[in-house]
Amino acid sequence: MSEVKKCERVLLSCPHMGGGELDFVSEAFSTNWVAPLGPNVTGFEDDIAQYVQKDFAVAMSSGTSAIHIALKLLGVEKDDFVFVSSLTFVGSANPVLYEKAEPVFIDSEPDTWNMSPSALASALKWAKKKNKLPKAIIVVDLFGMPAKYEELIKLSDEYKVPIIEDAAESLGSRYNNKMCGSFGVLGIFSFNGNKIITTGGGGMLVCDSRQFASKALHLITQARDPAPYYQHSEVGYNYRMSNVLAGIGRGQMQILSDRIEKRRKIFNLYHEQLGQSGLIFLPESKGCYSNRWLSTACISKNDKRSPIELISFLNENNIESRPVWKPMHMQPLFKDCKFFAHNEEDKSKNSTSEYLFAKGICLPSSTNYKNETYQYVADKIKQWLV
Ligand SMILES: Cc1ncc(COP(=O)(O)O)c(C=O)c1O
Repeated sequence: MSEVKKCERVLLSCPHMGGGELDFVSEAFSTNWVAPLGPNVTGFEDDIAQYVQKDFAVAMSSGTSAIHIALKLLGVEKDDFVFVSSLTFVGSANPVLYEKAEPVFIDSEPDTWNMSPSALASALKWAKKKNKLPKAIIVVDLFGMPAKYEELIKLSDEYKVPIIEDAAESLGSRYNNKMCGSFGVLGIFSFNGNKIITTGGGGMLVCDSRQFASKALHLITQARDPAPYYQHSEVGYNYRMSNVLAGIGRGQMQILSDRIEKRRKIFNLYHEQLGQSGLIFLPESKGCYSNRWLSTACISKNDKRSPIELISFLNENNIESRPVWKPMHMQPLFKDCKFFAHNEEDKSKNSTSEYLFAKGICLPSSTNYKNETYQYVADKIKQWLV
């Protein structure tokens, strides 16, 4: 294909239905289960719990709400510290502010772009000295790449601080053959419209604790007491997923493995076509298997141009791409928060997440295009790189 027609914009990551979704949604309509309750909700929860090998899954209205509830379950309160990966989407960190707790941001390491175990070690040492260890560590598996759990879990065990795994972007990714989302005491997924599978909007909390699962369900349905009338003893939330949307999720689970295969193929195409032309792609580190939700790369150190220039060039050619997330410690919202860099001892070096923000780009990774489309994108990037 030489040119994508004007109207056919190549999108970064859009919903891709498999067909089975409609059957579940139609069933919800025909049985009148058009409510935040019904067989699709429990069916979708069972599908996810089984897929990631967790005992319990609780479907919610978003990934952000699942993180919020995870913090509540771990007893996070005003002024508590919560450690959070700095290189992430703001949805990972906002719930810490909902509880008026204090986020402390942890840098990335270069092998996976995820939480640096050495920065986490420095932060835990610092917090212990202050006699104020964090209530939780939110570890993100960015763009589908698993974090270095062997080292991170060691630290979590040593300091007895639980991990919440933000696997919003990494359903189907694995580390040492174990599913992402299953490493923390609590894990979360997002089914937002741009994710590897979507319900149009939604999230899931997973865990092995019956107590956590039933408390989560209580909190997300307005925390109603077991009384014959509407009685409430604590603050609750309206965070439950609807049975209609869960039907989309059940259908999407049927084709998840195809979507992962396709996203990995898209990454391989970009890598083969552009790996020698000045884009640096992230390989899978030892033990990592990525769903390659978004194909990401960095512009070479020697190229003085910014990824924003490449993004506008692609935009002029009807191709959507995005910068890598702007790290949370660089955000005006979090300007007063503490940050621990990967090279904490060597202040002369920039932090890894700052470097990735300065150089990184997310390439179109939607699965609903033919190979020619990705080839067209690769050709345009080659044109820009020469
Ligand atoms: C890493 C990460 N965490 C959290 C979220 C929040 O999920 P949601 O949009 O479903 O609230 C997202 C994405 O949307 C995300 O990419």
